Amino acid sequence: MSEYIINGRKKFDGIIKVQGAKNSILPILAGTVLCQGKVILHYCPQISDVETAINILRCLGCRVQRDNHTITVDSKHMNGYTIPDELMREMRSSVMFLGAILARTGYAEISLPGGCELGARPIDMHLSALVQMGMTFEENHGKIYCQTANSLHGANIHLSFPSVGATENILLAGVLAKGTTIITNCAREPEIVDLADFLNSCGAKITGAGESVIYIEGVDRLHDTQYSVIPDRIVCATYMTAVAVSGGKLFLENVIKPHMNSILSLIEQSGCQIEETKSGICIQSDCQLQKFPLIRTMPYPGFPTDMQAPFMAMSCFAQGTSVFVENIFDSRYRHAYELCRMGAKIDIQGKVAIVEGNRKNMSGSTVEAKDLRGGASLIVAGLGAEGTTVVKGGEYIERGYEKIEEYLSNAGADIVKI
Ligand code: UD1
Repeated sequence: MSEYIINGRKKFDGIIKVQGAKNSILPILAGTVLCQGKVILHYCPQISDVETAINILRCLGCRVQRDNHTITVDSKHMNGYTIPDELMREMRSSVMFLGAILARTGYAEISLPGGCELGARPIDMHLSALVQMGMTFEENHGKIYCQTANSLHGANIHLSFPSVGATENILLAGVLAKGTTIITNCAREPEIVDLADFLNSCGAKITGAGESVIYIEGVDRLHDTQYSVIPDRIVCATYMTAVAVSGGKLFLENVIKPHMNSILSLIEQSGCQIEETKSGICIQSDCQLQKFPLIRTMPYPGFPTDMQAPFMAMSCFAQGTSVFVENIFDSRYRHAYELCRMGAKIDIQGKVAIVEGNRKNMSGSTVEAKDLRGGASLIVAGLGAEGTTVVKGGEYIERGYEKIEEYLSNAGADIVKI
């Protein structure tokens, strides 16, 4: 159990190098089991979800070595196909291992995944796609027993919604399947492209990643590789909202600007100054923030659901009324009730949240993180609020943000973790 103590309204003046993307490294670590050899991954974030993924790999019999931001996985001697219940419960992305383990061994045993509670998060699309590719499964007391009669085979799969996780599971299952797999209406997030680039670096034949139709031509085997994951666009954007509410100047290094388009334009519209340079992005704020235009969360390239909570925290400090519509998850406003403890005025009506912003209302309080991005939004609010804020439930934040207190305090904020 950890908590963050923040003394707000300290101006930023510094540099942060953005960590590697959580949503890339997790499916890529699942993909290492397909290689039957050594994979060296660079720029891996030091976050607890990565530790969980490493524990899953070790349970499967893979050798994993970690050296700061580099992880080496040797899956030559992998001999397991079961993910223990406690690891499945720790994070939802553990379901990503299903397609990869099945492709490698012909069997997989998992239980229903856990992770942040963001309303119902079924895995029906994952399962039905894998069934189309030749899997059979039985569900018994929350456990799912999967197998393939021979090996997986290619299929034409249409997703009813562009699910990130389902698209990744099909990619992982499809690279070693017999024949061609075509996924239509697939997710287009940059992390999908990163997974496809990693798999192609091992010898897979994937085209179309980043577009709404992906083609996977199955190959017999994958080979060793070295790969660097992309920077985390959500972490980068979270730091930008922190500067927006606190004031001052922050230079963010290691950013892929096209991944940030939907976010940068909103931050600029709210009154912050953004300067793009060759090596990153500089954000400057004088705390005179204006309300946002209507924000609707959408699959990429729309506004990301993972940024809804930090942007809501920012809107509490802006002059005027901002409106959010959460279209991806049905229970993703739990941070709003905590923001209200700090003086925010937020009215939730189903999918819609209406925020009446006023910087003067925001003051320190004791609040509790209920999920990863909601937790980050409370840190953002604490940095901008007058006085001291205690954010409990720090373990949610540690799932996705590497040493957030260290990076923020090195750049001018007053925040410690206890
Ligand atoms: C991934 C991201 C998460 C992000 C989300 C949406 C990772 C590790 N996590 O989560 O940070 O918030 O994308 O951008 O990459 N759904 C079903 N059935 C399924 C699968 C999904 O109904 O089989 C629904 C979900 O309940 C949700 C929506 O589809 O309402 C989107 O989910 P999905 O894109 O799959 O999100 P995740 O992969 O879980």
